[in-house]
Order: sequence, then C-alpha cells, then structure tokens
Amino acid sequence: MKNDRFLRACRRQPVDRTPVWFMRQAGRYQAEYRAIRQKHSLLEICYQPELAARVTLLPVEQLGVDAAILFSDIMVPLAGMGVAFDIVESVGPVVEHPIRSAGQVQALTPLEPEESVPYVMAAIRILSRELKVPLIGFSGAPFTLASYLIEGRGSRTFTRTKQMMYAEPAVWHQLMERLTDGMSRYLAAQAAAGADALQIFDSWVGALDEADYREFVLPHMHRLFTRLQGLGVPLIHFGVGTGHLLHCLAEAGGDVIGIDWKTPLDQGWRRVGHGRGVQGNLEPTVLLGPWDRVAARVREVLRRAEGRNGHIFNLGHGVLPETSPDALRRVVELVHAESERKEAR
Ligand code: CP3
Repeated sequence: MKNDRFLRACRRQPVDRTPVWFMRQAGRYQAEYRAIRQKHSLLEICYQPELAARVTLLPVEQLGVDAAILFSDIMVPLAGMGVAFDIVESVGPVVEHPIRSAGQVQALTPLEPEESVPYVMAAIRILSRELKVPLIGFSGAPFTLASYLIEGRGSRTFTRTKQMMYAEPAVWHQLMERLTDGMSRYLAAQAAAGADALQIFDSWVGALDEADYREFVLPHMHRLFTRLQGLGVPLIHFGVGTGHLLHCLAEAGGDVIGIDWKTPLDQGWRRVGHGRGVQGNLEPTVLLGPWDRVAARVREVLRRAEGRNGHIFNLGHGVLPETSPDALRRVVELVHAESERKEAR
C-alpha cells in the first residue's frame, strides 16, 4: 500500500506522523545527481522520461520522504507554447526573445500537453507505477512565468515586468490569461497521467504589494484554482517572501498554502486561516549549520504547528546545493519521531 500521510495532511485528516518532503529534493546537493549531470544537461534530463523518473526517485530512496516531486523545470511547458529558451549554468532560464509587445503575446500558442510535452506525461506514468509515496506534479504560476518571459531571465527588481503591468495593463492581462490557460491544461494533463497532488510555484510574486497582487494577479490565480478544483487532487500554492500576501494567496486558492521561513509558521497559518493546510517552513540555510541548531529549529517549526491537522513539513524554499544529504535524512527522521501520534487512525 502507498504511504498516504502526505495526501491525508493535504486534506487536513489526522496522520500517524507529520509528512515531510523538500522542495528541490532532487538536485545538485546529491552526488548521484551531479554524476548524471556530467553526462546530460538539465533539459536533457527533463526531456527523457526514464532519466527524469530516475532523478525523481533518488531522494525518495535516500531520504525517506513522504512525497516525490516530478523532476522538471517551470520553463519546460513554455516550449509547448512556442517560447524558445535555454537553461544556462549558474544563470538559470534565459528566454531568446523576451516578450515586450502585444504581438508577441498573441503569437503564443495554446498548450496541448500530450502533443507538445509528451515526455513529461511519460515520466509521470513511469513514476506512478514505481513510487510507494504520492507524486507531486507542478507548474510555475502565471506571474512567475511572465516575469521570466518579460525580463528574459531571473530578476531582483522585476522592473520590466512591473512596467508592463502599469503601462500596458491590457497586454499584461492577455499574457496572464494565456499562461493561466496553458498551465491549467498542463496541470490537468499531469493529474490525468497519475500525479497525486499539484503544486503551483508563484516563487517571485512576493515582489508585489497587496494592491498590485489583487489587481494584476489574483483574478488569474482564482481562475486557475477554480479550474483545477475539479481534478480532485490536492492543490498546493507556494511563493517566497509572501508574508504580507498569505491571506491573498489563500483567497486565490489552494488546499495547502506554502509559507516561507521569514514568517513564523503559527502566524502564517493564522493569516492563511485554519480552514486550510500549510506547508513549511524551515530556513534552508540552517541545514548548513551544526545538527543541534538544525534539530532545535525543526522542533520549533513543529511546535508552531501545534499538532494541528494539515501541516506538511518542508523547507521555506528549495534545498541549497551546499546541503549534506545526511542532514536532510536526519530531518526526516526527527520530524517523524517528534510528531508521532499514537492515537491517530
Ligand atoms: O539543484 C538543482 O535543483 C539543479 C537543477 C535545476 C532546476 N532548475 C531544477 C528544478 C536548475 C539548475 C534549474 C535552473 C533554474 N530554473 C533556475 C536556477 C536555479 C539555480 O539554483 O541555479 C531557476 C531560478 C529556475 C526557475 C525555476 N524552476 C523556479 C522559479 C522554480 C520553482 C521552484 C523554486 O525554486 O522557486 C523551478 C522549479 C524547478 N527547477 C524544480 C526543479 C527540480 C521543481 C521544484 C522542486 O524540485 O522543488
């Protein structure tokens, strides 16, 4: 039988132990991953289902986590919408022709996932046969994807992105609509292929204040979550630096809201509302310190969750490449040991 404590927690049902997984649990901190990367680029791994599945499985076996997340990148489905991009070592995504005009938005093609990104669905089908824990499918959220499309690469200030929002709101909303439509098809196809839950990464939306979030992002996110609700799989809504927006993220949608490490979990959960689950929120860099400090901080997160149903333990953002696999393995053990509930089930 599959380990279902992650899915039970997503639904705020009682669990025997708090489930734990890590964003970027397959990645550069693993020697096995680095060895595969000696022979294949990141995108080659994404485009070869057997390879993507193998990389996805690595941390599940090594760390004992309660969920797997498909190995891919948020940029991958954009190839199916006619966007030319590359992922450049130590830069990240680079878009060949950044989107700056209405014409470029109109030229984006509707995503047909099974035709334009069949390898993603193939990897999910392999994984849903092989995994003994639930599989999380994912996509980037429209704002975060739009920021890469407009800036052409990662940004600290999101100047051009905000410029388009303020100066050309009609073009902005049209771009957000296209991305919402594309990602809702992409996520639905992942669920149909066997993904047990879906996480939407709005990683950079914390750059907006509440008024701008409400005007330029929330209506699109609300539409996305409304469409996805019918799929019957739990939905996780995550962003970084969103302490001031958590109530808006919850309003937009998601069964579980991700909380980064700057907001104490109990305060974040109150903002989200106790009628939803939360995921988080150990500071990822703490893992580079001594074990005593790591253990104290893990216990602190669990204390703030107060044993309430609906907590999924995670980091506040992805695993850093400098992290030791052993520290992550010990965190999984500690979360399970500290949260054991004898009366559950
Ligand atoms: O250690 C690694 O994770 C290496 C593999 C890697 C991925 N994407 C896998 C990935 C690398 C080098 C990238 C390129 C990339 N894509 C970067 C640079 C990252 C870096 O550390 O050098 C960035 C910023 C992107 C864009 C991106 N991809 C974002 C904003 C997100 C959402 C998650 C987040 O971190 O905020 C992704 C998703 C992503 N990229 C995943 C993986 C395996 C899936 C999510 C997960 O595993 O948790």
